Amino acid sequence: MRPALLRFRRSSPEGLAADLADRVIGQPQAMRQIVPYVEMYQAGLAPDGRPAGVFLLLGPTGTGKTRTVEALAEVLHGTPRHLLRVDCGEFQMEHEVAKLIGAPPGYLGHRETTPMLTQQKLASATSESSSLALVLFDEIEKAAPSMTRLLLGVLDKATLRLGDNTSVNFERTMIFLTSNLGAREMHRELCPDFGFAVAAGAPVGEPAKKLEAIGMQAVRRKFAPEFVNRIDAVITYQPLNQAALETIVDQQIADLEQHIQNRLGDDAFELEVADSAREFLLRTGTSAEYGARELKRAILKHLTQPIASLVARGEIGAGATLRVDAAALRLVLTVE
Ligand SMILES: Nc1ncnc2c1ncn2[C@@H]1O[C@H](COP(=O)(O)OP(=O)(O)OP(=O)(O)O)[C@@H](O)[C@H]1O
Ligand SMILES: [Mg+2]
Repeated sequence: MRPALLRFRRSSPEGLAADLADRVIGQPQAMRQIVPYVEMYQAGLAPDGRPAGVFLLLGPTGTGKTRTVEALAEVLHGTPRHLLRVDCGEFQMEHEVAKLIGAPPGYLGHRETTPMLTQQKLASATSESSSLALVLFDEIEKAAPSMTRLLLGVLDKATLRLGDNTSVNFERTMIFLTSNLGAREMHRELCPDFGFAVAAGAPVGEPAKKLEAIGMQAVRRKFAPEFVNRIDAVITYQPLNQAALETIVDQQIADLEQHIQNRLGDDAFELEVADSAREFLLRTGTSAEYGARELKRAILKHLTQPIASLVARGEIGAGATLRVDAAALRLVLTVE
């Protein structure tokens, strides 16, 4: 378990918002909309007969939509993987919905299909520290219409009827739908010159509103009004600005340092990452087009793997300092 857990500030009213903002950089509007619903649930005041919150997360790729749900899982349950994720890309055909709810008795395959969304599965997404299960429907625009119809019942009455006619109660869940509806138009709005992007400065004021409007328009084109009306908040994620990307780079370097300490124990060493190396990672791992999506891969390739081969060859001893600088196309590691 990550030592970051110790940093939780559960006791203060700003605790949850601050814990989330530490993990999802540069999207304060998203936190502002989600946190009140979590607090309402924690206070026992969430309305009866519906999920504790239903959110549609829109916006460009690599800006923190999925990360938000993982961050909430980490804050509520102690690990970012503690959530129920449904990849809607797997439910594009009408008949695939049986995987979700199980086939009715007597139908072919009835016994073999364990539904994905059972009460038990929801229960296993809760923890000792919170009874709120987080359910993520990724890429909702890919779901077959029959799945959208099922979801309608879940959003409206917090009930899902399974193939065997039992029902699942979703009152203790928070539902996140993510979609890249409107993403292409948003991208055109942000980078009119075919992606020869302005170093993505997050739009403020008017442009941010414009992205929201583009998102809402795409949502209304795709989903029926009764579906849209059952969503508590449609949240449009903004492209990450330079300062946010820098913070994310620093965080991921700090995560790697922590990982070295945790894994190597007494054999661990310190990293000293020069500004040039930070800039290198910023340049190779982030972009206006993909946000911070490629950063983990860039750190793995240019930092973690070269470090691992130094360790494997026994070229770095316990307590040493490893200095990281940048050359033109790679990082240069020097043991000090
Ligand atoms: N706002 C952010 N704060 C911190 N890290 C971020 C943020 N946005 C992206 N990242 C980093 O980039 C990775 C990808 O982000 P994420 O999965 O949230 O993208 P997404 O918005 O869901 O994109 P997609 O539309 O492609 O699913 C994260 O795992 C994280 O490492
Ligand atoms: Mg995502």
